Amino acid sequence: MRIAVRTWLAVLLLAVGTSPAATPPKAHTANAVTAAKPPGAAIASAHTLATQAGLDIIRTGGNAFDAAVAVAAVLSVVEPVSSGIGGGGFFLLHDAKSGRDVFVDARETAPESATPAAYLDKQGGLDRDRATNGPWSAGIPGLPAALVHLSEKYGRLPLRTTLAPAIRIARDGFEVYPRLEKGYASRRAVMERYRGTRAVFLADGTPPVTGETLRQPDLARTLERLATKGFDGFYRGDVAEKMLASVREEGGRWTRDELAGYRVREREPLRLKYRDWAITTAPPPSSGGVALAQILQVLEGWDLAKLEPAQRTHLIVEAMRRAYRDRTIYLGDPDFVKVPVARLTSPEYAAGLRASIHPDRALPSALLSGQPAPLEDDETTHFSIIDAEGNRVSATQTVNLTFGSGLVPPGTGVLLNNEMDDFALKPGTPNAFGVMGFKANAPEPGKRMLSSMTPSWIESEEKLAVIGAPGGSRIITQVLLAILAYDAGLAAQPVAALPRFHHQWMPDAISAEPGALDAATVEALKAMGHTINAGESTWGNLQTVTWDKRSGALDGGTDPRNPVGRADVLLAPAK
Ligand code: GLY
Repeated sequence: MRIAVRTWLAVLLLAVGTSPAATPPKAHTANAVTAAKPPGAAIASAHTLATQAGLDIIRTGGNAFDAAVAVAAVLSVVEPVSSGIGGGGFFLLHDAKSGRDVFVDARETAPESATPAAYLDKQGGLDRDRATNGPWSAGIPGLPAALVHLSEKYGRLPLRTTLAPAIRIARDGFEVYPRLEKGYASRRAVMERYRGTRAVFLADGTPPVTGETLRQPDLARTLERLATKGFDGFYRGDVAEKMLASVREEGGRWTRDELAGYRVREREPLRLKYRDWAITTAPPPSSGGVALAQILQVLEGWDLAKLEPAQRTHLIVEAMRRAYRDRTIYLGDPDFVKVPVARLTSPEYAAGLRASIHPDRALPSALLSGQPAPLEDDETTHFSIIDAEGNRVSATQTVNLTFGSGLVPPGTGVLLNNEMDDFALKPGTPNAFGVMGFKANAPEPGKRMLSSMTPSWIESEEKLAVIGAPGGSRIITQVLLAILAYDAGLAAQPVAALPRFHHQWMPDAISAEPGALDAATVEALKAMGHTINAGESTWGNLQTVTWDKRSGALDGGTDPRNPVGRADVLLAPAK
């Protein structure tokens, strides 16, 4: 794996030409949709049991959307550390029959009780405990509604079939793996405040240990209700009443109407062109697509392959810096605030940003006016699917921080998210992270909190790649680097393995994984004025599948940073 990555970096290192002079954007070829279909299905997810469940559903006659329901639900069972039916997510779909792309927004919504004042401590500061732990940190879940919506509108198998693998694994258990054990240890003090959570994770008296079997019989029953009753199985009746009672018992406030009134939104995906690629990605309330559009359109002014690594990295970082600055000012839920998407993603705006980039000097972030704010946190999961009919799913789902709010309402098995922390809970006032200032993402009843989740795909006349990743604010730069790597000719697995770097305007420093920047590049970047946190621990968990339309080859890449992930291909039987 590392050898392939190094090979690619070496190619870039050897690339000739040192001038960063901007070149005019390349002419684009139209997004050619060929008549040919993939020779089978490909699925990549962060857990082998989820990928297996999706492939089994395809074998049973399901399409990519049925498989997505199965994968999403199994991830909810085996990765409570990252996502679950107590959380939310975004599903980017391509329906081959209609040729339509749709973005299913199943982001959590703010309950009416969640006013900014509710998150202040006695001194008037942000109450970090309320914002991240227990009932006040939880938004109204969206994932169960998404599973029902996907199944009813796009799938062809009943939920009883597509949820069966998740129900079985919840009931019979799965093997605890190190990331889950470690994640639990890091959140243990919060998790064990709540009797419902203790009943799940301390069922045998001790916290989950790698190699043990974790069974979740209450979650199995809740999933069974969802399978038989659909939306009402979660948002009305017994499960809903138990969630309401627990939130109340722990001092929070949700209402029956907020649960019963939750709806997914279907939105137009955000589309952009980069060189020969047509890119389809996440619109607001994700900040991901807008940032991606800004960064890629800025970078299109240079032929990156012809630049030496330090110059190339400098330009990518400067583009990242500008896009992350804008996201803190302008981005929020488009149902509540006017987000200037057209302006921010226009080539003219990108040209202006590009013109502000010095070829070999870093711009201190402090000189870019704006209002720093905390960015989204980093436990989340992604999966990518292509099926033999040409359908696609790129889905990212989350409970926000490791194990979300830590609160499982007794008798439900549902671990509630702590997505409220993705709002600017205290706009205009300094908090632990710096000055917090933007209004676009302030909480309001029914509003969706800003996200970085960036489920995407890129397509040319010859190739298709479905991509996404978890990692909070680092999601966007993971997807960006993956797109640049595909453009440079890498295959799916080396793309998933590629060492990463990241800059998010504030803090004003480049974060770099081991191996991402060699010593000479680090020195050259420092000489340009960049601060570098080289050799940070690794991050992300990218899952990608590809289809080469010329050769017909399907392929998948699963992030080697997460040993329990799996990418696999299922070829259709020969006709
Ligand atoms: N909670 C992580 C995100 O939505 O980006």
